[in-house]
Amino acid sequence: MSLLLGVNVDHVATLRQARYALQPDSPNAEPNPLVACRAAQAGGADSITIHVRGDRRHMQEHDAIEIREKCALPLNLEMGNTPEMLALALKLVPDFVCLVPETREEVTTEGGLDVCGQAEATKKTVGLLQDAGIRVSLFIDPEAVQIEAAARTEAEMVELHTGAFANAFGVAEKHELAQLQAGAQQAHALGLQVNAGHGLNYENLIRFLAVPHLTELNVGHSIVARSVLVGFEHAVREMRNLMANYPTSCSS
Ligand code: PXP
Repeated sequence: MSLLLGVNVDHVATLRQARYALQPDSPNAEPNPLVACRAAQAGGADSITIHVRGDRRHMQEHDAIEIREKCALPLNLEMGNTPEMLALALKLVPDFVCLVPETREEVTTEGGLDVCGQAEATKKTVGLLQDAGIRVSLFIDPEAVQIEAAARTEAEMVELHTGAFANAFGVAEKHELAQLQAGAQQAHALGLQVNAGHGLNYENLIRFLAVPHLTELNVGHSIVARSVLVGFEHAVREMRNLMANYPTSCSS
């Protein structure tokens, strides 16, 4: 099976909020994340990812509901493990949930989830989501102890955090890539679906494709940034075309 692309459209909402956060009902409020989802579908996206943050800095609840109702692609909801977000997930019933750590101060999701340190709370939420028919992924750093802890929660998937890889260059990048390769091997051996994301772009993606057993990549910022210049559908298609270089012998 070919490598799947999940397109994160949060930053389409970031742009809208930059101007219209205080006038959410304005008929002028643009751009519309749902329109971006449809363009992503036309460009070959396999799923849509959104993150409704506690501080609502980009995606709003009404965006999530509209995208769930009107976009045909599978929906992946990223969420912090909080009662508020669990209630939203159970109302929305997305195809997938990816549990992520979340703090107000961070610019974006900075580290992976500490599944070891929050084993009981994580496992409980995983079970509640699964009971509602939602497949669950845990966003973790490629560390052996976190991968083992993720498997113990009985989540179906992990999303390996590629941020350290994306922010490393030269020898340091090789080290981060090796960590991801080992993490993917380990997670696959434990029966977990292996996804990855954060900071992947049109330049580093080719080197990242040396990681084995990948099923899906989630890419947001670089696609939205490129779409300003070439349009959303085109930006998604370019990413998709690069991903076609993933050797089928590598896929799970
Ligand atoms: N995966 C997760 C869990 C994320 O939190 C994010 C950022 O929202 C992404 C993937 C996408 O990262 P980027 O926007 O850097 O492509």
